[in-house]
Amino acid sequence: MSSIVPNSKRITTHSVQELKRKGVKISMLTAYDYTMARMVDAAGVDVILVGDSASNVMAGHETTLPITLDQMIYHASSVVRGAERALIIVDLPFGSYQGDSKQALNSAIRIMKESGAHGVKLEGGIEVIDSIKRILTAGIPVMGHLGLTPQSIYKFGTYTVRAKKEAEADKLIEDAKALEAAGCFSLVLEKVPAALAEKVAKALTIPVIGIGAGSGVDGQVLVLHDMLGMTHEFSPRFLRRYLNLYDEITKAVSHYIEDVKLVNFPNKDEQY
Ligand code: KIV
Repeated sequence: MSSIVPNSKRITTHSVQELKRKGVKISMLTAYDYTMARMVDAAGVDVILVGDSASNVMAGHETTLPITLDQMIYHASSVVRGAERALIIVDLPFGSYQGDSKQALNSAIRIMKESGAHGVKLEGGIEVIDSIKRILTAGIPVMGHLGLTPQSIYKFGTYTVRAKKEAEADKLIEDAKALEAAGCFSLVLEKVPAALAEKVAKALTIPVIGIGAGSGVDGQVLVLHDMLGMTHEFSPRFLRRYLNLYDEITKAVSHYIEDVKLVNFPNKDEQY
């Protein structure tokens, strides 16, 4: 009899929850294309997020607001073709789920059907709970996202740390509990004080994955192009750069240009 699990090597929402239960930290990174997804997956990351940060790092927009559902599906299907092990979660873009749970369900179904990804992420707390519940009725796993929610940048006005004041921290804890109760399998907490993030992680049974939220949470996520040092002008305190690819790539390209100009490339062995 064939297995009921589509790919037995695949990380699932359940295995991610199991990692929290066992006290093993969860690794998550963004990817937006096939080639990067292959490398990130081969390295063994647990979760790949096809983030709407694609709007910034892939398309050069100032915010995440312009990216469309069709564009997210294009990125997600490229990532799905490149990753055979990681759990693949896709951001629902701005305007595809807020204020209309039927539209939210349709958007999530399109992502699942057209990209082959394994779940969706969306930003917000109690105000988007109807959308979350409706998506879950279709058996689609949902990851929440609280704290700094970049799709609301024009409401916040800045990308500074969220929930430093007690009232906002209380609302965040309430939202986190509501997302868990609604059935989210996990939650991203972005740019909040470490002590608050740890408190949320301890209060919930679902994994809390942090970005700029300290080490007391259940896992970490970074934007791939930031941690590889491709976006050298973006330098928040929470970001650790594991490479400086901006310099490496511009150096390599300059070298190539010089070789072409000086007729050092191609040489005898590089031609037919
Ligand atoms: O879009 C994204 O990359 C994200 C991460 C910052 C969590 O939502």
